[in-house]
Amino acid sequence: MDEENTRDLDYFLDIQPKKKIEFYEAVLEGLSLPQKTISPKFFYDERGSKIFDKICDTPEYYLTRTEIALLNEIQEELYSLVEPGSAVVEYGCGSSIKIKALLSALPEPSHYIAIDISKSHLIATAKEIASNYSNISVAAICADFMEPIDWPERASFESLKRLAFFPGSTIGNLNPSEASQLLKYVRHLVGDEGTFLIGVDMKKDAEVFNRAYNDAQGHTADFNLNLLHRMKSELDADINISEFSHKAFYNEKLGRVEMHLISDTKQVIKIDSLEFLFEKGESIHTECSYKYSIIEFSELAKKSGFSVLKNWTDKRSLFSIYLMKAI
Ligand code: AVI
Repeated sequence: MDEENTRDLDYFLDIQPKKKIEFYEAVLEGLSLPQKTISPKFFYDERGSKIFDKICDTPEYYLTRTEIALLNEIQEELYSLVEPGSAVVEYGCGSSIKIKALLSALPEPSHYIAIDISKSHLIATAKEIASNYSNISVAAICADFMEPIDWPERASFESLKRLAFFPGSTIGNLNPSEASQLLKYVRHLVGDEGTFLIGVDMKKDAEVFNRAYNDAQGHTADFNLNLLHRMKSELDADINISEFSHKAFYNEKLGRVEMHLISDTKQVIKIDSLEFLFEKGESIHTECSYKYSIIEFSELAKKSGFSVLKNWTDKRSLFSIYLMKAI
């Protein structure tokens, strides 16, 4: 079916780990920790990805629309700063609006390679780009980009300059040492002549974050609770989902928004023969979303193999975009 589905693409590589086992192991391990924890990468099954799209449209979640507006504003500058004929590699292809804004801005990009963990999202985005940009060769790699990825052999265009693109402040969902590790993987993939365009959410007033991660329509709560739905449907976990609630807040000291699932009662989650006890008020920590000042992010980039060529922020200093080059 994938073959049929990916016919319009130059190539499709599936190097994603076997999903069910990975999720099962992560849940058992995470629920055994003193602070119960599940990685946010498990939010993005088909349902979770659709809920995330709804979050991006809420009035409170300023990140997506601010980044898109900023990308559109800097198109002319990107045209003059990026090498003609570059190969563009997108890490985590969420919204096709952003990659379209980039591909339309650049001088004759030659290739677009999308990397994402969610296969259906990945193929849909890659196919959409293939049908919109007939002069660009389009490929897709289904992978967890927190693992090192080598430049695919089939993409044998050593002489082309590579531009990695990582929008959406997804870098913020990694802790600073994981973020540095990812930047090093990107540095390896783009090579010595490579460049990197990345979108990063900025530090600001706690109230703005508290609103953005607690939208009035409840999409962020659904997104968070979707982890429990996945545990129920995929792992056959015995869970009383209605006895958990969503909590998100800005932890000013650590410079990050935290999301938790709070147990409203003393209760047990059962998976196979294992039981995980929750006291009333105890939480599963499901996400961190780190926020960076320009100085903090430039320092992180520098120690991970990149120097900032240029950075842009919107008028209200909500969101930032950096163009960096390999050092
Ligand atoms: C994907 N990522 C950048 C989002 C964020 O803002 O950290 C995920 C998200 N979590 C809750 N709302 C959105």
